[in-house]
This record gives sequence, structure tokens and C-alpha cells, in this order.
Amino acid sequence: MDKKTIIVTGGAGFIGSNFVYYMLKKYPSYRIVCLDALTYAGNLSTLEKAMKNENFRFVKADIRDAEAIDNLFTEEKPDIVVNFAAESHVDRSIADPQIFLATNIMGPKVLMDACLNHGVKRYHQVSTDEVYGDLPLDRPDLFFTENTNLHTSSPYSASKASADLLTMAYHRTYKLPVSISRCSNNYGPYHFPEKLIPLMIINALHDKPLPVYGDGLNVRDWLYVEDHCKAIDMIIHGDCVGEVYNVGGHNEMANIDIVKLILKELGKPESLITFVEDRKGHDRRYAIDPTKIKTQLGWEPETKFENGIVKTIKWYLDHKDWWEEIISGEYQNYYKKMYEGK
Ligand code: NAD
Ligand code: TYD
Repeated sequence: MDKKTIIVTGGAGFIGSNFVYYMLKKYPSYRIVCLDALTYAGNLSTLEKAMKNENFRFVKADIRDAEAIDNLFTEEKPDIVVNFAAESHVDRSIADPQIFLATNIMGPKVLMDACLNHGVKRYHQVSTDEVYGDLPLDRPDLFFTENTNLHTSSPYSASKASADLLTMAYHRTYKLPVSISRCSNNYGPYHFPEKLIPLMIINALHDKPLPVYGDGLNVRDWLYVEDHCKAIDMIIHGDCVGEVYNVGGHNEMANIDIVKLILKELGKPESLITFVEDRKGHDRRYAIDPTKIKTQLGWEPETKFENGIVKTIKWYLDHKDWWEEIISGEYQNYYKKMYEGK
């Protein structure tokens, strides 16, 4: 196996950290450099085990900091850059869009400039199915394909769509070798407690109300995080320059059904469910058509939802230290601001 150096930005967050572990295990000869600004969503304790691996390096830096990025690229001479770093929570983007535009649009610009200056062989932009907007609940025959128009709903998704457009512009104008993946909702270990699945698990464990937005019938297409990592691995190693791939495992579920499943697994009563005010502009349904990545790259998801959700709940039960530290800090203020009075 040849040697490669991969810079993984946002590797102290949920999906990025899972990707770091996936790559260290699968490619023992690769050097994996994680660059992360350690915002509220980044957690160094998540990377504790990786720190013991001599092929891993952690660098605290902001993807918007052109000088720091240039210095790191000079030192590491990366072959591939995978950009996970982003502000990722829709509710926060509704409360205050500013940082979403700065990080999610200017960050990729700085990274791609560095890729051009240092002759990086692949820049991979980790995007989301949210760039396609939403689908109606009464048309289960409709799915997002790579040709679906970009049609965003939240400041978060608008910032991610902007980054996708910029990525394709760098490819066309400057011939930067890029690829983009647009994945559906992920779940699994190290998922930050503000997101639906970990929030419901943790509230249920504390016998606290489970705040379901609106009627609870909004549908998301859930994928186990490792299957997303596998898709990105295949794309960055494949003949995929200039390509966009949708990633999803045809696992659509209404929020209320997920919440009920979590309660059942934890042996908690459904009376904990509380319907609260709906999210503004709340996307109704996401559903991915993954035909392209399946036929071109042979990608198949490996973890079925019924197994993945049990594994995930168990992970939260076994890793209380990880999330207790998070929810005891600034998260308390966030929770109050977002949920009090809803
Ligand atoms: P996350 O919020 O858990 O992690 C984001 C990470 O980026 C954190 O470690 C944070 O410290 C870091 N970061 C934020 N701003 C930074 C900056 N300016 N410079 C350097 N690092 C910075 O997010 P996630 O859920 O792991 O999502 C990762 C990526 O995947 C995002 O780009 C997101 O849009 C995309 N995505 C997420 C999902 C999902 O279900 N979570 C689905 C599809 C795509
Ligand atoms: P989330 O995990 O924020 O992901 P996204 O908005 O990117 O899909 O939310 C998933 C779904 O769960 C979404 O329809 C909003 C809903 N939701 C709730 O009903 N209650 C909550 O407290 C949260 C955080 C989300």
C-alpha cells in the first residue's frame, strides 16, 4: 500500500472523528492530519485514542486562517484534503446565520486556495442532502438525485450549497481536482448532544421531556456514520474528479418513530414526548437516491438501522463521561435559550 498524507478538517467533530478512526484502521501506512478549530462542537477527548497513533497528528487551527493553512500545507504536503469542518446545526443557523456563512463558505475558499498553491491531488468537500431542500410527504416516489436542483431552506443549507457551487467553480476555472459527497442524516458514536438522536437518548436517560418539533412527521433518511466514512473513502480513492455523489441507504423514518424507538430501547414511557413549536422553515422530507455511488463505485451501506440504533444507544450508555462533560458546560445555556418557552 502506498503512503499518502490526508488532511482531515473538522476531525474533532462527529463525522470527521469517525472518519479519522476509519482511515487510521484501514490504511496503517497513511498519515492522517486532523485540523480543527475546536469550536463548541469539537472535542479533543474524542480523538484521545487517535493521539496514541504515530501516524496521526492534531493541529488546532481555523479553516478561515489562510496563513495557518498555508503553513500546515507546506509542512505536511498533503495528497488529499477532506473538508468536514463546518457549523452544522440548523437551529443555530436560524438563530444566527453569520458564523455559518463565514465558516462554511470562506473556509472552503481558503482550503481550496491552499490546495491550488500546493498541488494537492484531491479536495473533497463533505456536503449534505439538505442542499436539495425538501420533498413532500405525499410523494414517496420522489428522491434527490445528483441532478436535483439546489433549493435550500435554512441558512445552514444555503451556506453548504454555496460551498458546493464554489467547489465546482474552482474545478472549472482553476482545474482544481475536486469531488463532493452529499449525504443524508448520520447517526452513531460522538454525535453532538444538540442533534435529534443523542438529544433524545440523553433526555430520556434523565427522564426529561423529549421535545419533538411540530407534528413529528418530518422524515429524515438515516445512515450509520461508518457507512458515510466508507463512501468518502471510495470517492477520494476513485476516479471521481469533478463528480458529485449522493450518499444514503434508503432508510427514511419520521422523527416521532425514532423518538418512540429510543424510548422503547431505554424502557422509558412515551409520556416523556412533548410536542413543541416547529422549527422555522422546517424541511418536511429528505430522501436520497444513491444509484450513482452504488453503480459507479460499488458502495453499499453495511449497517441496518435496527442494528445501528441499538449500537448507538449502547455507545451513549457506555460513554457517559464523554457527553456528561459536554452537557455540563456551555450546552446548558444553549438548551435553555433554544427550548425554554417552546
Ligand atoms: P460537527 O458539528 O459535529 O463537527 C464540526 C467540526 O468542525 C467540529 O469539530 C468543529 O470544531 C470544527 N470546526 C467548525 N468550524 C471550524 C473552523 N472554522 N475551522 C476548523 N474547524 C472548525 O459536524 P458533523 O455533524 O460531524 O458534520 C461534519 C460535516 O458533514 C459538515 O460539513 C456537515 O455539513 C456535513 N454533514 C453532516 C451530516 C450529519 O448528519 N451530521 C450529514 C451530511 C453532511
Ligand atoms: P437534526 O438532528 O437537527 O438534523 P437536521 O435538521 O439536519 O435534519 O434534526 C433532525 C430532525 O429532528 C429534524 O426534522 C428536526 C427534528 N428535531 C426535533 O424534533 N427536536 C429536536 O429537539 C431536534 C434537535 C430536532
